[in-house]
Amino acid sequence: MSSIQLTPTGKLRHFLTIEGLPRDMLVSILDTAESLTSVKDRSIKKVPLLRGKTVANLFFEPSTRTRTTFELAAKRLSADVLNIAMSTSATTKGESLLDTLRNLEAMHVDMFVVRHAQSGAAHFIAQQVAPHVSIVNAGDGRHAHPTQAMLDVFTIRRHKPDFGGLTVAIVGDIRHSRVARSQIHALNTLLTGEVRVIAPQTLLPADVETLGVKVFHSLDEGLRDVDVIIMLRLQRERMQGGRLPSEHEYYQQYGMTTERLAIAKPDAMIMHPGPINRGVEMSSSVADSPQSVILEQVSHGIAIRMAVMSMAMQHNQPDKAPQAAT
Ligand code: CP
Repeated sequence: MSSIQLTPTGKLRHFLTIEGLPRDMLVSILDTAESLTSVKDRSIKKVPLLRGKTVANLFFEPSTRTRTTFELAAKRLSADVLNIAMSTSATTKGESLLDTLRNLEAMHVDMFVVRHAQSGAAHFIAQQVAPHVSIVNAGDGRHAHPTQAMLDVFTIRRHKPDFGGLTVAIVGDIRHSRVARSQIHALNTLLTGEVRVIAPQTLLPADVETLGVKVFHSLDEGLRDVDVIIMLRLQRERMQGGRLPSEHEYYQQYGMTTERLAIAKPDAMIMHPGPINRGVEMSSSVADSPQSVILEQVSHGIAIRMAVMSMAMQHNQPDKAPQAAT
């Protein structure tokens, strides 16, 4: 899929998935985000990188963190932002996704940020849009959530920059998680020492080893010598049939508690993409512990989304890296 994401000269055009993107591109996004983090400290929290551009947020699924941080990121880049609540749009009267898109294109939108329950929705839209328009995937079905994975590796890099020396464990509902897939691709592309998944068999995809991970079914075994722990929510909205006995039993076996956290390295980071279900995947004592960087992840989402949007909007401009200090 990288061919549709990159221009013939290797610039970012659309951001749909981490899979297939070169390591240099991921590092460039991380470095650009690093240069943009200081924008939040200015008295006027804005740079003109997207001045004159229009960004439309099309969210066909609920979102708190992703939608608001994309909106803030676009505003900090000085773009005009349209937030289209799909539940109150004409799609509820039978208008197709393509017709909605064509109508918004007629309003000269330059970038669409798309969240959709259907895997491949953002890719489908990317195939239809005019050459100057960019698509950013804000989560499609169980397929990919690439900006979430980038903000996660950005958060890891800020604390533990040597990816080659790290063991990272992703715990929970890997099977239904677009976040986990994107995180695994990002961590492996950045040459992470070891990527583990820890879950019951029923919450793992059939082909999980082919993604380049080590599988554990016991949380206590999987946490040994781990530097970074990423907890995932049980994604009941995508589960078909009974994959779990009960949330109580799941918490007994896979819930992160202070005692279990002590099995990992003493300075292990605790991460979660949100939303958290306290008492299901982790205790409040872990979520709010000094080792937790969960709210830091949310803050970093703004810089990462600024980086992705500014880079994608330069795909048809002469070579020039986005600069914060303009
Ligand atoms: N992490 C994440 O995608 O959260 P939202 O569903 O709130 O956007």
